[in-house]
Amino acid sequence: MNLNNKILVIYGSPAESSFSSSLLDNHVNSLVNKEIPEIIHCNLSQYSISPCNGCGLCATSGKCVIKDDMQKFYPILEDCKNIFISSPIYFSSLPSHLKAFIDRTQPLFWKKIKKNPERSGIVFLTAGSFYPGIFSPSITILRHFFNTIGIRYDRENSELYFNTDTVPQKFGSIL
Ligand SMILES: Cc1cc2nc3c(=O)[nH]c(=O)nc-3n(C[C@H](O)[C@H](O)[C@H](O)COP(=O)(O)O)c2cc1C
Repeated sequence: MNLNNKILVIYGSPAESSFSSSLLDNHVNSLVNKEIPEIIHCNLSQYSISPCNGCGLCATSGKCVIKDDMQKFYPILEDCKNIFISSPIYFSSLPSHLKAFIDRTQPLFWKKIKKNPERSGIVFLTAGSFYPGIFSPSITILRHFFNTIGIRYDRENSELYFNTDTVPQKFGSIL
């Protein structure tokens, strides 16, 4: 695999003024003085990515038959060094367009990409309220996604915020 320090930055919130997107922007801005050849910004709600239709053809071909914007992301997902993802919590899970993006990486699941510890993923999640296990389903999904594309979940640098609809608080124990 040709690792070229490319960073994929994925904004999962469809909201114009987004708390989770601003957390991610702060993180990306902190990288300005570092030598990064390419940062690819992707505001998912501006792309046309259909849900997986479960046809199963990717199990043998390693490719998705749906010809939409997702096709641009397959090579990037395979060769980027880091992925940063921000997202709000919707119904204790991820917004549907982010979930569709993740489901559409099933061709990469079938490629059985070996984990490269030099590649890592950081997440920035925000939830309007608080209740036990509020972030658990989303973290499980995102870890599954990172495993699928062969990258390590960087939990130390990830940030989770709850009560964002009132007084935002940082979640102490990172899952
Ligand atoms: C459709 C929808 C579903 C939501 N579901 C939850 C939820 O299950 N739990 C929760 O704490 N907040 C929920 N929220 C609130 C958002 O998680 C919260 O406002 C978040 O900080 C928004 O992030 P953003 O500004 O980056 O879009 C929901 C909001 C919307 C619009």
